[in-house]
Amino acid sequence: MRTKSMNVKINEKTNKKELYMGKYLLSDLAKVYQTPLYVFDEPGVRSKLDTFKKYFVSNKFDCEVVFASKAFIAPYLVKMLSEYNFSIDAVSLGDMYLIEKSGFNMNKVVLHGNNKSYLELQKAINANVEYIIVDNLTELTTLNNIANERQVKVKTLFRINPGIEAHTHAYIETSLLSSKFGESIYDEEVLNKIMDVYKTSKYLVLEGFHSHIGSQINNPDSFVAEVKTMCNFIKRMENKYNVKFSTLDLGGGFGIKYLDSDTEINLPDMLTKIVNSTEAILGDHIKKLMIEPGRSIVGDECVTLYTCGGVKTTYGGKKYAFIDGGMTDNIRPALYQAKYTVDVCENVETTDELVKLDLAGKCCESGDFIAQDILIPLPKKGDTIVTYSTGAYCYSMSMNYNGLGRGAVIFVGDEVNVAIRKESFEEQFSTCVFRKEKKMKIFDTHSDMLYDLYTQDLLGNKDRFTNFHVKELNNSVVRGGIWTMYSPDDFNLLEAVKIAQSKIDLTNLKGFNVVFGLEGLRNLEKPEDMYKLYDLGFRHAMLTWNEENKYATGVAGEATRGLMEDGKKVLRIMEELDMIIDLAHLNEKSFYDVLAFVKKPNKIIYSHGCCKDLCGHRRNVTLEQMKALKKVDGLLGLTLAKGFISKNDNERDLEHFLDHLDYAVSVMGIDNICFGFDFMNYLSDFPNDNIYDVEDATKAYKILDGMRRRGYSEEEINKVAWDNFYKRYNDKIVLKGE
Ligand code: LLP
Repeated sequence: MRTKSMNVKINEKTNKKELYMGKYLLSDLAKVYQTPLYVFDEPGVRSKLDTFKKYFVSNKFDCEVVFASKAFIAPYLVKMLSEYNFSIDAVSLGDMYLIEKSGFNMNKVVLHGNNKSYLELQKAINANVEYIIVDNLTELTTLNNIANERQVKVKTLFRINPGIEAHTHAYIETSLLSSKFGESIYDEEVLNKIMDVYKTSKYLVLEGFHSHIGSQINNPDSFVAEVKTMCNFIKRMENKYNVKFSTLDLGGGFGIKYLDSDTEINLPDMLTKIVNSTEAILGDHIKKLMIEPGRSIVGDECVTLYTCGGVKTTYGGKKYAFIDGGMTDNIRPALYQAKYTVDVCENVETTDELVKLDLAGKCCESGDFIAQDILIPLPKKGDTIVTYSTGAYCYSMSMNYNGLGRGAVIFVGDEVNVAIRKESFEEQFSTCVFRKEKKMKIFDTHSDMLYDLYTQDLLGNKDRFTNFHVKELNNSVVRGGIWTMYSPDDFNLLEAVKIAQSKIDLTNLKGFNVVFGLEGLRNLEKPEDMYKLYDLGFRHAMLTWNEENKYATGVAGEATRGLMEDGKKVLRIMEELDMIIDLAHLNEKSFYDVLAFVKKPNKIIYSHGCCKDLCGHRRNVTLEQMKALKKVDGLLGLTLAKGFISKNDNERDLEHFLDHLDYAVSVMGIDNICFGFDFMNYLSDFPNDNIYDVEDATKAYKILDGMRRRGYSEEEINKVAWDNFYKRYNDKIVLKGE
């Protein structure tokens, strides 16, 4: 069970044999990085990767190893996997977030899961993942709808339950007829329906099939049976539906040794057998064979170190050695009755008397043990206890029960690299609301809601509002917004507005406040048409988007061209109607022209932009513009568009957004700042264009937390988030979810 680089040396003082990984004494690592500590053997993991690379090959088709990230994942490992050109399997938005943030090529990610959410499917499509592995017919239909909305090709494999007994623990067997995963190989009716969806779908591509029969399987025959069953299934499907498939994915599940008595699966042999059996049946035409090992790559190249807190003998005579971890860092014994091998690092291969004891954790559960009735030399308080083969499904399944923080994960080779830091209390409880805070909400002074509803409607996505926006906004602190209609070239503004408005139903958006607005007027035929828009509920407008038009000049127009005569007419009408005049998108000349022209400067906002002094984006405002806005008691709405925050990609995050906020407050004061987020997931062409930490409305709470961290009072936060806009303009709210 020792990892590849583990070795033993005699301690000359104690005369006992001690355990090392490479040149590092394990008990020293335990002291430096603190326990519980997961220690990966880097050369060991690399040699596993080498084995898969070397033996999972064919000259008939490509062989692709997809690492199952559920076993263990950290950016450090992601980098290693990308060096080896492996793919990675993800199961959630969280997985995809970590993988993407680690710099991995998302084209080499496959998305799994038996209940993928709309957002997960959408993210996978946006990120252009290699395959979405569809689990069932319902999911296939949802995916088809999304693909139609987006009008993009989506490559899929379909997960089949091949009904093969895997002889492993019931909780990790996935191929029984009662399993929740995939659709059954025997269910002709469902298979027919699936093939119907694919046949009629314009965008879904079925490249092949997937199966995964379970985990910790030590009998190679189970895999060979799976290969044969799946290959024959593919042949049968090809004949029945007269199509050819190019890809077969056989999942993972290769077992490792936890105890001396466990049978060892011979990886090179098994990989060769899998390839050969596939070649024999499908070698003439498939293009790709995939497997998804997790445990067999990381499982037995990692150990967990604990510090012994003491030994106890019960009145009944049972002995316990206590460790400073347990089910929180390794739930497997409690969940699957998994068994582990244990040593005392300071005294291995000992001639001392062995005692029989249970290795018990520190949680308030009798089931909290790592091993039972094991024979080890009696550990002393302070000794380092090691458990082997803890690289898979230990850290990834760890938890904080009883307030225990997660330990660090290190990779040991020529040097020690920390892959995951020990969790601090601050991190562990970062989601807790400690102070009694006023329930904060945000008024978002810029979103492309109307334009999104209109364009999605054109794409056939009739339920965008209920299926997407209502869900997202109900999971957000954003409780009010200026919902705008953008104006591209050749566009019937009045028509588009009516279509978009017809989609809105606030029944399920209780308490939400809506102001209707216009992002640019290039399609307003004549100034007087503003009356029509007012009648339709519009209370806000920007004269231009970036373009120059007959009313004014946007940032992309001539610098010397400003507000035009027709623009003045529009402004007069807007003032007569007491509408909000938004200076966003205007070039500087127009900006100042409008300020000089208006009689009601107290109706001015700049709904979405940041500070040019911090990021030279053309849409950000200069110090002078900020001062001019302040002078008329106008509002500046800070935006999350990542290009506005920094030119530097790794600075497009929450902290740099907060820098803009601090700066704007320092110039304009707390009463003239608000938020105009411009969530880019409302625009299908720019789905990933907001800052990394706040990609969509559901993450907006992080901004409030960030302000608290930076020392803003609750009153100040509430001003920026809500009151500054709401107190000035609540009479402009035309729709409210009651
Ligand atoms: N592919 C799919 C679709 C899977 O569901 C899994 C594991 C794998 C690949 C990787 O399987 P591996 O090669 O790691 O055995 N928590 C349990 C194991 C759960 C396995 C979940 N799926 C345990 O600790 O034993």
